Amino acid sequence: MTKTLVLPFQPLKSPAQKFEGVKFIRRQGPKMQLTLTQPDDWHLHLRDGDLLKAVLPHSASTFGRAIVMPNLKPPITTTAAAVAYRDSILKALPSNSNFIPLMTLYLTDTMSPNEIKLARKSGAVYAVKLYPAGATTNSQDGVTDLFGKCLPVLEEMVEQDMPLLVHGEVTNPDVDMFDREKVFIETVLKPLIERLPKLKVVMEHITTANAAKFVLSCEHALLAATVTPQHLLLNRNSLFQGGLQPHNYCLPVLKRETHRQAIVSAVTSGSKKFFLGTDSAPHERRRKESSCGCAGIYSAPIALSLYAKVFEEAGALDKLEAFTSFNGPDFYGLPRNTSKITLQKAPWQVPKSFTFPFGDIVPMFAGETLEWQPCFNSD
Ligand code: DOR
Ligand code: ZN
Repeated sequence: MTKTLVLPFQPLKSPAQKFEGVKFIRRQGPKMQLTLTQPDDWHLHLRDGDLLKAVLPHSASTFGRAIVMPNLKPPITTTAAAVAYRDSILKALPSNSNFIPLMTLYLTDTMSPNEIKLARKSGAVYAVKLYPAGATTNSQDGVTDLFGKCLPVLEEMVEQDMPLLVHGEVTNPDVDMFDREKVFIETVLKPLIERLPKLKVVMEHITTANAAKFVLSCEHALLAATVTPQHLLLNRNSLFQGGLQPHNYCLPVLKRETHRQAIVSAVTSGSKKFFLGTDSAPHERRRKESSCGCAGIYSAPIALSLYAKVFEEAGALDKLEAFTSFNGPDFYGLPRNTSKITLQKAPWQVPKSFTFPFGDIVPMFAGETLEWQPCFNSD
């Protein structure tokens, strides 16, 4: 098996032309380029230690900012820990990078409302993440009593205009794995929005037609959703095609084709309620290819190409830039990036794996050929 030890994107040899907004150009033959305002990743797992150093350059080469998930071991439950984590990310960045990590806190039943005040004051923390206890990787310290023990914290989040990012799945063992999101919307999300209509909420990594419809139709302007490349491009068949496919296993788990199509329609409709969040979640190969494999798909090196593929296939490339670069900062009340990134339409092969001293990471679509290649960063 071929192994690759390179960053995925090589800069163009000659500088590309720059364009305002999204434009196609035909330059000498059939090659096309697409220039976008630099995107941000509104849902990213960067990990820590050697894994952080390994994966950070992939996100920093494409994205201007990222909302960094707090499900480390131990989880990031205090502002002090979030600031220390941010410092370690900044230290691990390539020297020429302007990437900005936007930190989050991991909500627990015992968090105090004062922590939200500290978070707001720090200027480093941009959101609080709700993991229902047991829902996913490192969620064992997550929430068991949202409407009880966590209520004072949620009320303080309204005061501080601090968004709640939800992993939208119930964890009751009697709910079918594929229904967890649908049941969460009915039993948690709707009551939450009714109870706290001024709370900003992002439903993370939506996977169902139910979620897409709910977000689209909800009059609550403070509700938005992130969408991953895998939930736009894969359905649950890809977990089993030709044998068990651990590198397509993530949580929330992939759903049936009708759900994928509904999410694509919602995202390419031009609604401002959806924005890019890769949920890129690296795990070492041996932790994925195991008798009890971890959930998480590593998409950071190829995510922008994948989103371009989705929008192109839907005939909606004119809507791509709002999804990748405008809707997210607008929702969070942050300025849009001013730098640009160019994608060139030229076939390129996704590395079969990335090799590091501690082991391999297998990316989404490993070894497959993609069309759009990010190739140019500029101010
Ligand atoms: O597939 C996932 N992996 N889903 C999550 O919610 C967490 C993530 C991880 O941290 O590995
Ligand atoms: Zn995640």
